[in-house]
Amino acid sequence: MLLGTRDTSPNIESTFMDNTFLPLTPILHRWIQDIIEQPITLFRAIEQHGSPINIHHLAPLEENIDAYVGVLTKYNITHKIFFARKANKCLELAQAAAHAGQGVDTASYRELQQCVESGIANRQLVLTAAVKNRSLLELALQHDITVVLDNEDELQLAQDVAQEKKRTMEINIRVGGFFVENQRLPTRFGFPIDRAVACVSGLADKYPNLVYTGLHFHLNGYSVSERVAAIEQSVRVIDELANEGIHTKSLDIGGGILMNYLQSEQEWLDFHQALREAVLGKRSALTYQNDALGMVKIDGQLHGEPTVYPYFNKLHKEHLLEAILTTPSSIFNVPIHQLFTARNLEFRMEPGRSLLDQVGCTVAKVAFRKEDSEGRLLVGLEMNRTQLRSSSADFLLDPIHLPKREDQEAKDPCYAYLVGSYCLEQELILKRKVRLKSYPEIGDLILFPNTAGYMMHFYESEAHLFELAKNVFL
Ligand SMILES: Cc1ncc(COP(=O)(O)O)c(C=O)c1O
Repeated sequence: MLLGTRDTSPNIESTFMDNTFLPLTPILHRWIQDIIEQPITLFRAIEQHGSPINIHHLAPLEENIDAYVGVLTKYNITHKIFFARKANKCLELAQAAAHAGQGVDTASYRELQQCVESGIANRQLVLTAAVKNRSLLELALQHDITVVLDNEDELQLAQDVAQEKKRTMEINIRVGGFFVENQRLPTRFGFPIDRAVACVSGLADKYPNLVYTGLHFHLNGYSVSERVAAIEQSVRVIDELANEGIHTKSLDIGGGILMNYLQSEQEWLDFHQALREAVLGKRSALTYQNDALGMVKIDGQLHGEPTVYPYFNKLHKEHLLEAILTTPSSIFNVPIHQLFTARNLEFRMEPGRSLLDQVGCTVAKVAFRKEDSEGRLLVGLEMNRTQLRSSSADFLLDPIHLPKREDQEAKDPCYAYLVGSYCLEQELILKRKVRLKSYPEIGDLILFPNTAGYMMHFYESEAHLFELAKNVFL
């Protein structure tokens, strides 16, 4: 029998008295700790802007940029870091990245237009949009923005646009399909790496208005070794092109650098172990209706892994970048960083999520408390699940309960599921059961930490004509 993610066996929560909660304690930057300690400003902000609100702070963004720059400088690598603004729509973040001397990776007409209009210099912008129409390429050409091209149709359109305006357009070529352990990494993006030399060396004849300056890739997943392989194979292409007299200025390795959300590896491991036991009916449920978070139960056996972001990571951010750069290249017999310095090749990267580590949080107001038909406590929030959503099956960090009355703090904790305002049975803000300081009161606040990267904006919708959450900056 295939049960998918929903277990229809008798309500395990009421069958088992084991209601042990498994914490997933988030790392909190000082600024978040400060607002938690002084929540009066949060209550005022919710009064003023409505619920939920997204609160941002630029200092951690600058710290994250500095950490990457520190590693690149340590190895004397000429570099530019382009903040992938698709991870959060606030222009202030793009401006802050530019202000810090770095750049912005844009993925749509409005992302690019806003950056240009806000005065970010053309050399600090790159356009990587997954679909580029004529008007987007015209905008890029008008402002001399480097465009990363993905396929022949885009090359042709870019050529047409540049030729029509009697201009040249600076382009990078996106490559993909790298080989790792004799297998190709599957992707829908880019020109196959083994055809990249032919592609680039044919450009000048076929597309005379396009000026090639670099290679680009962005890999799915977070693997260090796959990034190392992709860099090596790209550099091999760059060397072959150099032999043909074609110069490559930069290699852009895209984003996908892991970040770490959680304080404790043990908590992370314990949660996964307990989730499996719960889904197999061996302990009380940790998730609503015993949701398996992407695992599948067939004939009493669990298959697959939870389809969640790896919220705990020992190796993350600048440490992960350094691990890539110091890996010895099996092709060139030197560490990866020397591939850049020896060729005077500019290193580019496009981190989105990891530059937003600790940059934002989302706060929502409690609207109601009730029990569902099975007797589970539900806490209704004035927000919907698109306002805290990424491609991960759940956001596995403990939210923080901020009671409006101080005397509530001393009471017993309670366990509940957080539900939102869309009219769906599946409208859970978090699938995981959460611990609250006490039985919540209407008007209490729930703070979700570290939501700036993807969680706030990527899937937010205006269904039911609810207004989008307000974004504020400290
Ligand atoms: C081309 C490109 N660059 C950069 C990024 C940012 O990746 P991340 O936020 O994982 O760092 C993405 C994400 O999808 C991307 O598609």
